[in-house]
Amino acid sequence: MAISRFSGKEIEDFCVFLSREYGLSFPPARYSFVENRVEPLLADFSCRTLSDIILRAKRDLKLRMDLLNNLTTNETWFFRHPEHFTILKKHVLPDILARKARTGDNRLSIWSAGCSVGAELFSILFTLFDVLPEPAAHNLQLIGSDISSDAIKSAREGIFEGHQLRLIGHQMLRRFFDELGRDKWQIKAEFKKYVTFEVLNLLNSWPARTYDIIFCRNTMIYFDQDNKTKLTERFFNALHNDGYFLTSANETIHDDGSSGVRRLFLENEIIYQKSGTQKDFVIFNFVTPADLLRALNILKNNGFDYHLEKLATEHELAPTRAIFINSSDINKVEELFNLSSIKISSVQSLSR
Ligand SMILES: C[S@@+](CC[C@H](N)C(=O)[O-])C[C@H]1O[C@@H](n2cnc3c(N)ncnc32)[C@H](O)[C@@H]1O
Repeated sequence: MAISRFSGKEIEDFCVFLSREYGLSFPPARYSFVENRVEPLLADFSCRTLSDIILRAKRDLKLRMDLLNNLTTNETWFFRHPEHFTILKKHVLPDILARKARTGDNRLSIWSAGCSVGAELFSILFTLFDVLPEPAAHNLQLIGSDISSDAIKSAREGIFEGHQLRLIGHQMLRRFFDELGRDKWQIKAEFKKYVTFEVLNLLNSWPARTYDIIFCRNTMIYFDQDNKTKLTERFFNALHNDGYFLTSANETIHDDGSSGVRRLFLENEIIYQKSGTQKDFVIFNFVTPADLLRALNILKNNGFDYHLEKLATEHELAPTRAIFINSSDINKVEELFNLSSIKISSVQSLSR
């Protein structure tokens, strides 16, 4: 077993500090990782103990930046979790753009929170260029932020290696990147100009902006539940009405339904939408949980959009959820349910 130069209490206090100040949470199994990453800083900044580092980090920007750069995991790649980009292309952008077109609004604001070296924000940009007939006719505000200054510096340079580009086809590569040689590729200046990157600790205060879409993926995974809950609420507040929030599957959001945000099931994924203008839904309640399950499969297999909401059940064998579908789909959905003899206990209309 490796000998630690810090006492158990010292490293524990240090990890409490990291979680409280930066949201970086390390369980005991990762204490040796923290030690290895922090140890070089002791000599660099003439500190003797971890408590010295804590005191210095509050006033010494350079030490704080080195500490965060050493401790964060910046792994990322283009079109990571491709389903999210399919949802963006097929559902989220068409919905937002149709709504904006009705009011002649050409602005579109998107935030990649915890963007690392920028692959996520650039993937969003490429998707926009795929969807928008005339991207230059829109007022695009695409912002990436990260706590790591090194990651933001790299994002601004926009240089990537082959392994980060593995999900990008040849055509897209040629369109958006200049080849630098030695397996390195740089985003062309004409596309870089659409994005802005900034250093931001998500646990601190944010610039007072609102967004149509927020991505925060693989960033809150290491946050403790309390930080995660507070942060999610702040993300929802920073969304425009009808705006969308995408997070990774392992960052499930504990939502008691009071936030005015609904879960959407699209392309077999869950994303979130802030309630805004009223929409017309039809709510199906089912006789048994098996009917509910079969109904869900039918909706999924036939590509319908839907969401589930919790029910106060009347008896313990009744399904605990109702299905909401868009009212425009009612005829087709009813026909499919009838064909499969699904037992429905009630159908209601709702605008919200
Ligand atoms: C694994 S990367 C995820 C990058 C990208 N979102 C993705 O899914 O590919 C997580 C990023 O979160 C950043 N991060 C961690 N804690 C943060 C905090 N408190 N505020 C802002 N960014 C943070 C890290 O620096 C890191 O770059």
